[in-house]
Amino acid sequence: MQVRFADRLPDGNFALVIPAAAADSDSTGTVAGLRDALTRQRFEGDAGSAAEHFADGRRVLVVGTGKSPAEKDGPEKLGGTAVARLLTSGETSAAIDLGGLNFDADTAARVALGAALRAWRYDRYRTKLKDKQKPTLNEIVIVGGGPGAEDRYRQRWEPVVEGVSLTRELVTEPANIIYPETFVERVRKSLEGTGVEIEVLDRSAMEKLGMGALLGVAQGSVREARLLVLRWNGGGEGAPTAFVGKGVTFDTGGISIKPAAGMEAMKWDMGGAGAVAGALKALALRKAKANIVGICGLVENMPGGNAQRPGDVVTTMSGQTVEVINTDAEGRLVLADAVCYVQRNYKPATVIDLATLTGAILISLGHEWAGLFSNNEDLAGKLTEAGKESGDKLWRMPLAEPFDRLIDSPIADMKNVGPREGGSITAAQFIQRFIEDGVRWAHIDMAGKAWSDKASATYQKGATGFGVRLLDRYVEDVIEK
Ligand code: BES
Ligand code: MN
Ligand code: ZN
Repeated sequence: MQVRFADRLPDGNFALVIPAAAADSDSTGTVAGLRDALTRQRFEGDAGSAAEHFADGRRVLVVGTGKSPAEKDGPEKLGGTAVARLLTSGETSAAIDLGGLNFDADTAARVALGAALRAWRYDRYRTKLKDKQKPTLNEIVIVGGGPGAEDRYRQRWEPVVEGVSLTRELVTEPANIIYPETFVERVRKSLEGTGVEIEVLDRSAMEKLGMGALLGVAQGSVREARLLVLRWNGGGEGAPTAFVGKGVTFDTGGISIKPAAGMEAMKWDMGGAGAVAGALKALALRKAKANIVGICGLVENMPGGNAQRPGDVVTTMSGQTVEVINTDAEGRLVLADAVCYVQRNYKPATVIDLATLTGAILISLGHEWAGLFSNNEDLAGKLTEAGKESGDKLWRMPLAEPFDRLIDSPIADMKNVGPREGGSITAAQFIQRFIEDGVRWAHIDMAGKAWSDKASATYQKGATGFGVRLLDRYVEDVIEK
């Protein structure tokens, strides 16, 4: 679906989208019978709601905008709700008439953002879709957004759509298609021409560096591990900020194997790495004035004749040793070596890791918030704020010494699991043991957020692209300011 901008309504066939807040204005109040149609549908104009009407052979969709259409995610919701209703409606073109709303350029551009995000779907393997099930909407025309809306969209928000789309694609693809090597190749292709520098470490490179924790997870799989390093140097001199993603392309649990029911969900256990790749794409496309290094720790966690066993002791790149009590607590093992690598090689002042790390975070926060853990108040505050602004919401969770004691091991420096209680916290404590003195660090446990079983205003059921908008916003507000 294309997004266009125009000063007046197009010619020819199109569905007319009217924001409820403008439904009484002079320009649109003239649609015959509209008022009556809305009343009879009990349409009250709540954000995210919509009502349809046909007049003069044209479909008219009135989309609720709530009391203050320009506030919070109102603009994205408006665009997204319109697309959700029209994507497979049979209409090929739709015009959203913003005249009468007095949106500034950014607000109008964010209507387009919502529309584009909601239009994303992945039909590659659906070869037998009936015509009725196929998307028909080819273009959305944003009308009356005012001067600057299009430039603002192309410069600031279209890159975000591109980044989120890459993340969703990586997360959606099954594990027979996307595994460490193919993750790298898919990202490489997607980032061509963006200016992102790419470096890839294979198994022997990681062996030389002593990454025993990451490689221990990978050793049960015939798919070789990779460490993908993405660099965007838009900020001149100065230490980079590091984004580190858990990229377990499939998590069977390994020898501590997971139950069969629902295991297919573990194809999206690379959602953190997917978010890192998508964020780097967005930042590069919008030429962010920031130095970012993105690390994707890519492995497949399988049982097998060569798989690691419960009780094995592995030596990490940091030199610290880990007793692997449960091979299903693999994400933290991958991150331990990935965060060590980025600190040793790039001396970042700040490290932010993203991971679908624990089922326990779903017990704590459900599907609404991702968990945020940090050793720095300022960083935690800035990320929480970026979460509110972007819609990728974060809720702060505690870190404390008594939790750290719970992962002491009698045979090694630490074990990879604590007790069931506080499972997300001990997982975060584990990662913190690999953060060097003076480094600002945040860990985002996004196990409840990478995938959604229900659609929202800005995504279909399935991969959400969580994390891309969060990181993009953080970079703009904190690094570029
Ligand atoms: N990838 C899972 C976490 C997960 C669970 C993500 C459910 C999304 C939905 C992670 O590797 C895992 O298996 N964690 C274990 C840790 C346990 C063995 C300490 C868990 O949460 O059960
Ligand atoms: Mn696991
Ligand atoms: Zn996992």
